[in-house]
Amino acid sequence: FKVPAVENEPMRSYAVGSAERKGLEAALAQMQQELPFEVPCIVNGLPIRTGNLAKQPIPSDHARHLCTYHEADESTVASAIDGALAAKAEWEAMPWNDRAAIFLRAAELVSGKYRYKLIAATMLGQGKNAWQAEIDAAAELSDFFRFGVKYVEELYAQQPPKNSAGAWNRVEYRALEGFVLAVSPFNFTAIGGNLPGVPAIVGNTVVWKPSPAATYSNYLVYQILAEAGVPAGVIQFVPGPPPEVVAQAISHPNFAALHFTGSTFIFKKLWKDIAANLDKYKGYPRIVGETGGKNFHVIHKSADVRNAVLQTIRGGFEYQGQKCSALSRLYVSSSLWSSGFKDMFLSEVAKIKVGSPSDFSNFMGPVIGRPAYDKIMGFIQKAKDAGGEVLIGGTGDDSKGYFIQPTIILTKDPESITMKEEIFGPVITVMVFCSEMWPNRLTTFQVYVYDDANYEKTLELIDNTSPYALTGSIFAADRKALLTATNKLRNAAGNVYYNEKCTGAVVGQQPFGGARASGTNDKAGSISIFYRFVSARSMKENF
Ligand code: SER
Repeated sequence: FKVPAVENEPMRSYAVGSAERKGLEAALAQMQQELPFEVPCIVNGLPIRTGNLAKQPIPSDHARHLCTYHEADESTVASAIDGALAAKAEWEAMPWNDRAAIFLRAAELVSGKYRYKLIAATMLGQGKNAWQAEIDAAAELSDFFRFGVKYVEELYAQQPPKNSAGAWNRVEYRALEGFVLAVSPFNFTAIGGNLPGVPAIVGNTVVWKPSPAATYSNYLVYQILAEAGVPAGVIQFVPGPPPEVVAQAISHPNFAALHFTGSTFIFKKLWKDIAANLDKYKGYPRIVGETGGKNFHVIHKSADVRNAVLQTIRGGFEYQGQKCSALSRLYVSSSLWSSGFKDMFLSEVAKIKVGSPSDFSNFMGPVIGRPAYDKIMGFIQKAKDAGGEVLIGGTGDDSKGYFIQPTIILTKDPESITMKEEIFGPVITVMVFCSEMWPNRLTTFQVYVYDDANYEKTLELIDNTSPYALTGSIFAADRKALLTATNKLRNAAGNVYYNEKCTGAVVGQQPFGGARASGTNDKAGSISIFYRFVSARSMKENF
């Protein structure tokens, strides 16, 4: 048999008066009325109510919370691991077409029956506007499941091209020995589904710790997978205090792999903790992670100004700059900056409406929570203290929700704090390549002085300023300028875009992931990532 051809999920626009708009508004109204929900841990298909209660606040209205969830305690995590190990043999032995059918069915449930509910949960709980939630919880999530099945079919078909006479060479792609730990982030409901989904499609069983700030939408994803037919025990849902749950899982002798999306700091720590436990394990655990970014746009003097401005705004401010791929440092040619870019940029940003996602006219919503709000406002202050000029924004209002205005900071120091460190908020720092801006540093910091003639030096600067290498975009009409950047920035981004914003990789179209401090570059949404969760057995049989 062959898995049916797959397509990207068509996206809905939620235009005023449309049936989809009414459907989503009804789902939102119902959710607002019914909340807060109660979320248990789910182990072996059964709810566990530990009584250790925690809340997932609504970031646009922090006096309320979307759900109260039961944090996993030590015995819950222990049963989740035992159950995952017990469920493995049967899951792995299930015929591939049955495993495939389960995930294809899950994709249908996401795109149909549960679409509005998932989107509403993502809007309320994670502060996305309707369009951003549609991209994530409807389109990307169903794409991950559908394309995942297709990629695994392709993976299993990879067989040695040669056999010697009277013999048959074949490769079997087995699940890993042990269980997989999935630790997912708040910012994409789709990644919540993908982190346990990828290892499970190839026959692994998974202990899944969702982000506390995405508990409810991720619980819905769990329920969809269960309804689609993922057997009890195959994916164990254990929300809980991250350090404890994770430490317990990685110190288990049957720990086989980590599938992680989150901060660079935590990922490095987990890697070291895993190394410290190495002698306990049966094998070498697979470590797959997608972490931070300090993503850039570089605007060459030949670029189309309007396109570059609009893409920059979308790349930097959609979902309040909280995508791992979000733009945060902008390098603009001085001739463009002064001949229209700056004015258009500021006047378009001034039009952005910030507010509750329930009002569909808001382009931006809240940032995810109190620590994020304080951290982002702190970065803005530090940038000002260091001589950065706030061209627009720079203010926040946390009285009802965690709202921060879209902020543009102009700096003359390409190594200033907001040019180097990940902010994860709606802040773009701009560096204009312009020799007259910084004449007194010409002698000591020659390398930092740019004008249009110094495009190549600018590219070197982009490459050297940050430890990250997730995404970046080059805007130029001149094909030579694109080529120069492609070569100079060879290792500066795992995902590069030309004349388009640096966010919004589509499953099946742009495999997504970064290198350097941004992750193991195993490319979500592509066949590559599935190789990390199988252990191949090469077999030669003589007849
Ligand atoms: N895939 C998302 C993007 O490209 C980030 O996770 O924006």
